[in-house]
Amino acid sequence: MKIDLNIETNKALKVVVLTGAGISAESGLKTFRDNNGLWENHRVEEVATPEAFSADPDLVYRFYNTRRQQLLSGDVKPNAAHAALAQLEDMLGDNFLLVTQNVDNLHERAGNKNILHMHGELTSVKCVSSGVAFHTDSDIDMHSRCTCCTPANRLRPDIVWFGEIPYHMTEIENRLAEADVFVSIGTSGNVYPAAGFVQFAKRCGAYCVELNLEPSNGSHEFDAAFHGRATDIVTKFVSAISRSSS
Ligand code: OAD
Repeated sequence: MKIDLNIETNKALKVVVLTGAGISAESGLKTFRDNNGLWENHRVEEVATPEAFSADPDLVYRFYNTRRQQLLSGDVKPNAAHAALAQLEDMLGDNFLLVTQNVDNLHERAGNKNILHMHGELTSVKCVSSGVAFHTDSDIDMHSRCTCCTPANRLRPDIVWFGEIPYHMTEIENRLAEADVFVSIGTSGNVYPAAGFVQFAKRCGAYCVELNLEPSNGSHEFDAAFHGRATDIVTKFVSAISRSSS
């Protein structure tokens, strides 16, 4: 597939990229809605809500411990789509922002630095009382304790569960409002507020591009949509945008 973008400019392009689970699929991480709506054999209500954590904390700890171990196992590595976005950031510098719904660290491992994890991170845990976050590569359980409180409190996965407010929303909206180009990659458009970024960016004047395996829920909102595997279409998109902005 050839990707041509209808943007010619002689000024530095401001680009905001949103990624979802589809960009990490070819690295071996399961997406959320591919498997009859089950995430690694669990319904989302069993592992991704505050109610689930209250009802069965051991299951929730085990679930995220397993996801973290898998991510850090050495079998899961950034793919060509992650690498292409790192190249795009090298080219655009601070005019580039990567917003990800993903809780993996594959964008960082590919080399991206200007990145906001709106749904949290597997390699972070937080105090249930203060919300202070701590980096971890290790398992946590009921007995793990923070170092920010006296007496020390329990820790929980630093994941934004359903019913909780995503991180960095003010900064994301500010950057979307001034973006020339908004690109949505590997996301089904089922979960808000991320699913609404396209309408917001478009209203603010951005040229909006979808790159996904199949049309997402909001596909018709985009100015251009290219469908295929992320490793193919993201690399082609980055080459096309390099041509447009040179
Ligand atoms: P989904 O599983 O809903 O959607 C993944 C999308 O990626 C689908 O549209 C697939 O068609 C597409 N896809 C699959 N393989 C691909 C590939 N190789 N190349 C390109 N696209 C591919 O995942 P998200 O949209 O990321 O939230 O889900 C959004 C949020 O819902 C997640 O962050 C998570 C979840 O519940 C929380 O945990 C709070």
